[in-house]
Amino acid sequence: MCGIVGYLGKNNTKEILLSGLKELEYRGYDSAGIAVLQGDSFESYKAIGKLVNLEEKTKEFTTDGFAVGIGHTRWATHGKPTELNAHPHLGESSYVVHNGIIENYVQLKTKLQAKGINFLSQTDTEVIVHQFEENLYDAKDAFKAFSKTITELEGAYATLLVTKSMPETIYFAKHGSPMLVGVNDAGEKFFASSDSPLIGLAKEVNYFEDGDYGYVNKDELVIYNKNNELVEPKFTSLATDKLSAQKDGYRFFMEKEIYEQSDVIADTLMGRLCDDEIIFDELDKSLFDGINEIKLCACGTSYHSALCASYMFERYAKVRCSVEIASEFRYREPLMSKDTLFVVISQSGETADTLETLKMAKNAGLKTLVVCNVDNSSMVRLADACILTRAGIEKGVASTKAFATQVTVFWMLSLYVAKLRDALNTDGLKHQIHLLREIPTSVIVTDEMHERIKRLSKRYLHGHGFFFIGRDVFFPLALEGALKLKEISYLHAEGYPSGEMKHGPIALADPELFTIALLPQHLLYEKSKSNVEELSARDSTICAISPINFDKADDFIPINVCKDYMLEFFEMMVVVQLLSLEISIRLGNDVDMPRNLAKSVTVE
Ligand code: F6R
Repeated sequence: MCGIVGYLGKNNTKEILLSGLKELEYRGYDSAGIAVLQGDSFESYKAIGKLVNLEEKTKEFTTDGFAVGIGHTRWATHGKPTELNAHPHLGESSYVVHNGIIENYVQLKTKLQAKGINFLSQTDTEVIVHQFEENLYDAKDAFKAFSKTITELEGAYATLLVTKSMPETIYFAKHGSPMLVGVNDAGEKFFASSDSPLIGLAKEVNYFEDGDYGYVNKDELVIYNKNNELVEPKFTSLATDKLSAQKDGYRFFMEKEIYEQSDVIADTLMGRLCDDEIIFDELDKSLFDGINEIKLCACGTSYHSALCASYMFERYAKVRCSVEIASEFRYREPLMSKDTLFVVISQSGETADTLETLKMAKNAGLKTLVVCNVDNSSMVRLADACILTRAGIEKGVASTKAFATQVTVFWMLSLYVAKLRDALNTDGLKHQIHLLREIPTSVIVTDEMHERIKRLSKRYLHGHGFFFIGRDVFFPLALEGALKLKEISYLHAEGYPSGEMKHGPIALADPELFTIALLPQHLLYEKSKSNVEELSARDSTICAISPINFDKADDFIPINVCKDYMLEFFEMMVVVQLLSLEISIRLGNDVDMPRNLAKSVTVE
């Protein structure tokens, strides 16, 4: 998804902007650009495709001393990924970058065009700069003009604007899309749409709240809130560690992140397990007082972990549980009752649809909890309570370790709630805690397993589709396996409950239909096996993943014999992740940055 950077200071503005954009690459984009104002002279460069194209175009460009600059990676929403549509967008003497969507841009554009203003792009963003210049013409004061412009925009945005009429200033506004500003002792100011570009540059950062707007110059950082009151920045310190952002010898970040799962799950468990108790220091037990239902809401992979959670909450904690896709929940006028705990799950904490459902639940007076991987993200700041998943920065667009830590958190949380509700006796709880301690071992990738999957992957590069099938929690795992494969291999794949195949999809069965069958020993083994046999009898090509050898399978990927179905879940999770990875690599795809996808989906 789009990324923003901004810089004001006397160091190498071009390099700071480009390396900031590089840090945002993992979010997904299809074009990029920068604009730098030095004295009264603007230089702007844009390029479609990867950042190397922009680097090439700016090869000869240098700045000397103080300058202000803004930069952007664009993930196309309004208009194709072309150079004209790439940001920054130019008015007569101002440039703007923007994340989010200006919902009333057609009305604004029509009015501006009626006044004779010429638009160069198909984007919604371009209205901001023209509207600003219209207002500047009347107000003769850049900040007044900018403030007025912000009141005229509807939708979600984070935006930066630089103008010749106030050449040593960057104007900013945030409403619905994330943005932060960092400062350092040298008086430099850095903007970005997420932490990573600022690491190592700014010691202290201020995360803007919705409705914040203002400006920076050499001496000042001026912030107004949504009520137009002048507010002090709320500085927090920023981590200084960029190490986790490197590939450490792995071919792709996704591969590295699959291998990291054992460590990050151990981190997620750390300090949270006692002999017969689960500890969440960050939770106040009263969060669960009067709660009769848990409603989980998320998108994509996080939605799959929510589905897993629903099985565990009902099974262990005996609490009613429902799961919602955030983009559906937003608009279906849902009934919300105050005895429901509303839980959102998000790796990024910024997904627009999920964030909106959190706001809806808060407005309806529900208690809210977020399970999230990014501290200080919008959801973390908004929810009543938060559990951080401790997966570390996830760079691969296809989520792996974030999912693993989410499911780990939900396994623990369901036991925590079980204890509060007396739904599990002490022995049962002790047994579960003992199992939880084994997850880090069950996700270790062995050379033997990886080699086997690598070899086998060459048989799955064609065909007319994949069905990942499983029962119970293995159904959401099947959905997740299919999503991983779709995302990075561009092959059609579906996740399906094993028992549902005969209600329709089995009509597709033939040797070119690949069934990836999840066959745990400790959960409905015989039932699942029968479903796979039905497919095998109709000549579907079967790849079984199981601790028990299955002679009706064309291919077999063994997992270790485990004590419990949840450990089998984690073992199989690694297998489906690696299978997608290896198929994608064989197909020559960009595993970490698959086409059309964005890491952080901040538009609805
Ligand atoms: C898939 C994937 C996406 C995200 C989804 C929600 O690999 O990463 O499906 O899970 O966009 O994102 P978060 O969890 O950041 O809210």
